[in-house]
Amino acid sequence: MTDPLHPTADPAWVMAEDGFDPRREADIEARFAIGNGLLGVRAARAASRGPLWATPMRHLHPTASPRSYVAGLFDSPDIEPPVPVLMSAPDWLRLIIRLDGQTLRLDPAGLLVHHRRLDLRRGLLIVEWRQRDANGVIARLRTLRLVSQAERAIGLQWAELAIEQDGIAVTVEAVFDPAATGLEILRATPDLGLWRSGLSGRQLAIAGDATLTRDGIALPAARGPLLWSWSWTSQAGQIVRIERLMAAMRGDQADPSAAAQAALAGASARGGGEVLAAHQAAWATRWASADIEIEGDPEAQRALRFAAYHLVAAANPDDPHVSIGARALTGDGYLGHVFWDTEIYLLPFYTIAWPEAARALLLYRFHTLDGARAKAAAKGWRGALYAWESTDTGYETTPESVIGPAGVPVEVLSGKLEQHISADVAYAVWQYWRATGDAAFLCQAGAEILLETARFWVSRAVPEADGRRHIRNVIGPDEYHEGIDDNAFTNLMARWNIERGIEVAALLRARWPEHWTRLAIDAAELAEWQAAAAAIVTGQDETGLFEQFTGYHALEDIDLAAFPGRTAPMDVVLPRDRVHASQIIKQADVVALLALLPDAVPPTVQALNFHHYAPRCAHDSSLSHTMHALAAARLGDPATALRHFRASAAIDMDDRPGRSTEGVHIASLGGLWQVAMLGFAGLSLGETLAFTPRLPPEWTAMRLRTHWHGRTLHARITHDTLTVTLEYGAAMSVLVNGRPHDLAPGVPRRLSLRGSGKTAGRQGVLF
Ligand code: BGC
Repeated sequence: MTDPLHPTADPAWVMAEDGFDPRREADIEARFAIGNGLLGVRAARAASRGPLWATPMRHLHPTASPRSYVAGLFDSPDIEPPVPVLMSAPDWLRLIIRLDGQTLRLDPAGLLVHHRRLDLRRGLLIVEWRQRDANGVIARLRTLRLVSQAERAIGLQWAELAIEQDGIAVTVEAVFDPAATGLEILRATPDLGLWRSGLSGRQLAIAGDATLTRDGIALPAARGPLLWSWSWTSQAGQIVRIERLMAAMRGDQADPSAAAQAALAGASARGGGEVLAAHQAAWATRWASADIEIEGDPEAQRALRFAAYHLVAAANPDDPHVSIGARALTGDGYLGHVFWDTEIYLLPFYTIAWPEAARALLLYRFHTLDGARAKAAAKGWRGALYAWESTDTGYETTPESVIGPAGVPVEVLSGKLEQHISADVAYAVWQYWRATGDAAFLCQAGAEILLETARFWVSRAVPEADGRRHIRNVIGPDEYHEGIDDNAFTNLMARWNIERGIEVAALLRARWPEHWTRLAIDAAELAEWQAAAAAIVTGQDETGLFEQFTGYHALEDIDLAAFPGRTAPMDVVLPRDRVHASQIIKQADVVALLALLPDAVPPTVQALNFHHYAPRCAHDSSLSHTMHALAAARLGDPATALRHFRASAAIDMDDRPGRSTEGVHIASLGGLWQVAMLGFAGLSLGETLAFTPRLPPEWTAMRLRTHWHGRTLHARITHDTLTVTLEYGAAMSVLVNGRPHDLAPGVPRRLSLRGSGKTAGRQGVLF
């Protein structure tokens, strides 16, 4: 049997980090985090972790920021402004090692060996070190940790400890450290802890069990509440083994203690070996759908695996009441809040690779519709205006002000004005429906979201004296320009949303009249929707160029090429007010529109807009590059697309300290996967499934799998051929470069990509 503490042999499946650099520690903790959509744990060392102080941003910070998270565990602590925060949960991995009474502390000078391996394939973290203490005693520790993909409440830690000298008095404590969680303890028994968030009243129960064996014999433990302490005298090189299991349950109304204890009892009865095996099997299932294989570009391959790993780790198909925050469960950034990132950047991954997770994420938006309705109503609008930042209730949670760089409060307007989120949610609902044909979801949840968001836009886009409908005083994706009128992105997405509202209303009426009746849309209202969609201002001139918003073209045109090698955001490099009054764009805006609605304008007009806006974009958001990559790939420029792809991959993968400290940029990671699938493979999952491949020159082949309407397909794409196999499901037809081909179950079809007119036929393009 292979040693479970050995990572997967193939380096293409392993993220490796050797040595210990205090300046990068917090980044590595985020990048090497483990997760299963319910639980997330940063990769802080389990034992002898510090504190060791570092000054990454001129402030003194502990080097390590160990954090465990439980999705949906929000509270509003005593902070100003009082916005809900994703609480951190007790740290269930902590080991305290004492050698001759001295606690082994993290001392980089004493670290002889330090390896960390994030095993992407198996979904777990392996850490190995050899460390000398102040007295010259050397300890060796190997650990493995996972949160189960097979049973989300369960976490497992294995540790092997050896002391290299004889006769040392060794004590190991396995503790559940509640430090810095901000949770109130309700109950602490030897095997169970119960905590409560102060204001929201959510409960968290953690049940735990730990054993230490030496020569196969369990050592008795001294016990405290969720504390095990073992002592023995060392024999040089002798390995002791620790196995710790835990079960964590969130209770929104009821006390989850009994459920946590039952889950733990089940896992303990099966034992760590079986927990590990089930976890690995579940990851293997996920990878079968999520993996994209690239030939010819190992760097892109690593980036895509890393991206898919974190995407799988972020989602929970079993909980339709939580969504994914901007840093997933890997750090405190953005307080765990959910943005448009989820629907626009992440959903394509889940819709294609894991439809059950996509469904749960969209149901979260269904369950938070009341918050969205309340936000619209408060301003006198109809329908649903989703929160720009959302937590568990769906009510707006964007802080209204923050302390700015000058030390004074700065008003945050995005919570009030960044309204495209409503169309973004509708967009993801429609994508999911078109790609899956999940009628139950559409009837019970999706249609209501589409109709309520359409209703919002009709009331929001007000007819004016010029006979057109305008959407004034918004923020588009480019947050450098606030309080603007007729943002092309917002207006076109709003129009698209209203059109989908009309379409879904017709669909309900024809196929599911009981839902048509239930959702009460009448003919007069639909007629108003038609008129509204036709009258919304687009900001396009006679050449087809969009004006990003009214007055944009008249702003100062600052040449970004004059700032090569810049690492700070433009509104730090130059005075903020000047940047905000210029044409510099924070992130893809019109370009995002091209990426999301490729059918809205013809390819030549797309190119015109891309070349106008790309040079003006500062890419000061991690959400920017992948939209450029997607648009460029669709324009038939895979080299430019690959440049943007690599720039996005670098955000969480390069060595610059401070990049991922507050968590991985999950939207950038979702964007990377999307660029490969929707851009380079040219997949679209509309009513017909279609491929229009445009591989970058460096990529010699790519292999992928997709789900579509209950079927599973596999494709291998080279520059010359596409071989597609319908692996599961009924016969169907697929469009390749616009030409239809029939697929029979299990029969591979090898199709030539040469001379078939690559720009022909965008039929079926949805996203
Ligand atoms: C971006 C937003 C994004 C948010 C969370 C901001 O900096 O401008 O588009 O939703 O970060 O990732």
